[in-house]
Amino acid sequence: MSIFDSHEITPEALFSARRQFLKLGAGALVSASALSNLMASMPLDKALRYVPSTNPHGLVLNTLEQASNYVNFYEFSTDKEAPVKLSAKMKTSPWDVDFLGEIEKKEMLEVDELISLFGLEERIYRFRCVEGWSMVVPWIGFPLSKLVDYLQPNSKAKYVKFTTRYDPSMFPDQSKGIFASIKYPYVEGLRMDEAMNPLSFIAVGMYGKRLLPQNGAPIRLVVPWKYGFKSIKSIDNIEFVEEEPKNTWQVQNPKEYGFYANVNPSVDHPRWTQAKERVLGKFGKQNTLSFNGYEKEVGHLYAGMDLRKFF
Ligand code: MTE
Repeated sequence: MSIFDSHEITPEALFSARRQFLKLGAGALVSASALSNLMASMPLDKALRYVPSTNPHGLVLNTLEQASNYVNFYEFSTDKEAPVKLSAKMKTSPWDVDFLGEIEKKEMLEVDELISLFGLEERIYRFRCVEGWSMVVPWIGFPLSKLVDYLQPNSKAKYVKFTTRYDPSMFPDQSKGIFASIKYPYVEGLRMDEAMNPLSFIAVGMYGKRLLPQNGAPIRLVVPWKYGFKSIKSIDNIEFVEEEPKNTWQVQNPKEYGFYANVNPSVDHPRWTQAKERVLGKFGKQNTLSFNGYEKEVGHLYAGMDLRKFF
């Protein structure tokens, strides 16, 4: 039992208490263990137990309100705010994820099973949308590499293909048939070495709590060095394949969107510059960083590749 009664403390209170604690300069290790003990007493539906991030890049966080009220989730709407209301009744639990293709363990696992298999940690990442806005979000989840290792891919597994759930009763835009905004289901992909990079992350939460429906509940991908459209939401299945998968935006508009989508301020989108970005909640713009500020961690993955060609 902790000193707090679990019903008396909200996840938001916990989250800001921890931030306060870190601000006071307390050691990261002490804060991690003290707070994960505290969080251990929280019921799962209220807060997640996870190892907090030490925020190694010293990033300034956006608020949950900012990150959850301006979203891209075409299955609900192309509008940035409409998915908040339209997704309010989305049933996100139980939620099975299917693992398919060139792997030893062709299994179906519920999101909570994945959480108990791999544990949870926090990652504070920059997030840059191809449209020119950005934010900093504290995600909660586990490294994609842990999941890949668990599934035991064979030597034919060269790419990982992610697919969002197809359920027109859940997603209004999917029910519009040929009048839908884009082709469904939404698909994304990573090369195997990209998937195994320590930054690639499967998120089940943000700001200390489970993901909100509009942010891709109950389980999504987060690839911080790539434009946001790679970070596919509400994942239904993950398949290990030999050929490079055709991702949704490449299919929609191959002249404007490719498979790689690495954040690159020196390669403009055909219709706008990618040199600058607007941080949600701020006036004015800031410079966009190469690989969204993660060049040291991921630049080597693209050595020798012409990033104008592989955009
Ligand atoms: N995943 C699905 N299934 N459908 C979508 O419309 N939009 C993408 C990506 N993942 C999208 C998706 C785009 S364009 C972006 S920028 C991010 O989700 C936005 O994530 P956020 O709304 O949580 O900020």
